[in-house]
Amino acid sequence: MKQWLKDAVFYEIYPQSFCDTNGDGIGDLPGITSKLDYIKGLGCNALWINPCFDSPFKDAGYDVRDYKKVAPRYGTNEDLAQLFRTAHEKGMHVLLDLVPGHTSEEHPWFKASSQVEKNEYSGRYIWTDHCFAGGDGMPFIGGETDRNGTYILNFFKCQPALNYGYGKIHESWQQPTDAPDCRATVEAIKDVMRFWLAMGCDGFRVDMAFSLVKNDTHHKKYTCAIWRDIAAMLQEEYPQAALISEWNAPRLALKNGFDMDFMLSGTHNGYDWLMRAYDGTMDSNPHNIGKAYFCKDSGTGIDKFLDDWLPSYKATHKDGLYCLITCNHDTIRPAAGLTTDELRIAYAMLFTMPGAPFLYYGDEIGMRYQKLPTKEGGYFRTGSRTPMQWAPGKNLGFSDAAPESLYLPVDPSADAPTVAQQQEDPNSLWHTVQSILAFRHAHRDLDSDAPFKVLFAPKAKGDYRPFAWRRGKLICAVNPAGAQAELPLKLKEGTRTLFVIGSAEVRGEDLILGDQSFAVLG
Ligand code: NOJ
Ligand code: CA
Repeated sequence: MKQWLKDAVFYEIYPQSFCDTNGDGIGDLPGITSKLDYIKGLGCNALWINPCFDSPFKDAGYDVRDYKKVAPRYGTNEDLAQLFRTAHEKGMHVLLDLVPGHTSEEHPWFKASSQVEKNEYSGRYIWTDHCFAGGDGMPFIGGETDRNGTYILNFFKCQPALNYGYGKIHESWQQPTDAPDCRATVEAIKDVMRFWLAMGCDGFRVDMAFSLVKNDTHHKKYTCAIWRDIAAMLQEEYPQAALISEWNAPRLALKNGFDMDFMLSGTHNGYDWLMRAYDGTMDSNPHNIGKAYFCKDSGTGIDKFLDDWLPSYKATHKDGLYCLITCNHDTIRPAAGLTTDELRIAYAMLFTMPGAPFLYYGDEIGMRYQKLPTKEGGYFRTGSRTPMQWAPGKNLGFSDAAPESLYLPVDPSADAPTVAQQQEDPNSLWHTVQSILAFRHAHRDLDSDAPFKVLFAPKAKGDYRPFAWRRGKLICAVNPAGAQAELPLKLKEGTRTLFVIGSAEVRGEDLILGDQSFAVLG
């Protein structure tokens, strides 16, 4: 385990929307650098920055046109180098977003690949051998290029799939993963990684890490082999560099080179039951929530989360970190479904569980989901990508630009939460986040890889649905419901409350947790 990950708490930044320093209405890298003290003061000591590379922005930068160039709208490569240096001076680490599965259709590799004449890049993407060949079950585009063939897509239409080869091969145009073209793709991605690592980057969040090899087995045998190969390169050349996968399959990711994997939101999975529990699809009315564990009146027990999370944790905790998030740029903000008091205890649990927690910018003040038209391929996700709300006043402190020229509008409501207001108010959500993170950093028992054990997780009985867990010598407990709960924890004499949200009292061997309360005992 890489030493710095033990105490790492990540802050995810959507660069478009964090801080605009040159008044053009869009966030930039100098803006991020200028806010490092703020982030550190909150208790986050590491960053994940969404793609900040040159791109036509049809998928907000997940359509990379030049892997080695910062998008001019965010600044220059030197600005990014400066961000790395300043972060390191402050003891912070920075992950970039690596998009290995596809590029933009405007990437020079793809342009070369589309040509009729054979060249170095002809096999960099997955092409069939005829303009009518279809895609063997995969989404494909035909009729757009002079080259006589169709090409496979990895996500949106603008994102042709890079060629890492096929597991099971049943068409003549499908290559095995050890074909020279496929190996060249792996080497090209390693080259991109080395480029940023040499400049000071501390690792990568890997987009769609599962997506490299097509027709791969259920166990993703060939994709996993590529990640082991890449991890071996890192181990040799940059042993402290970290990799986190967008995969939500810790049994695969953490055993095949990744240091961390995300537990992502999916319909009715454990994370969904904990924080969201939307009815229907992800873009259904976000205010229709109410079934999440942390909703005061949901009646949902912690078993809905544990049934999913615990077996994965047990199977992988020796290999790496299975990480919990407050939200990300692809999901509806938690404030859409949870009140401030619900958010407090939700975050308290997320930040005291194993794994390195990820806080999405603005969730520390309960920024709200906005109903907005789509921007740069965001669709329903656009509403979670609005500008950071720093202070009351023009554009809520995000930018000096005219409001109509902002990348996205700021929250227009009169009571839109801001950092400045919440820092003034000792009862704010910001202070809850800050104090729980300070407590975490002060206790090695709350390190990302420190031991964890379920202590008390009864099935829900009406409003009785508390949860208690052990971290090293500490005991953490939460009661999300609207009624007080007694937890028969067989506490040792002398056990005291060390951190409390709401109310908590040790009575003999029991813990009495007030309604909507959280406590750490030791
Ligand atoms: C996952 C990213 O998080 C998402 O924002 C993007 O649209 C897709 N991958 C495609 O790269
Ligand atoms: Ca700017």
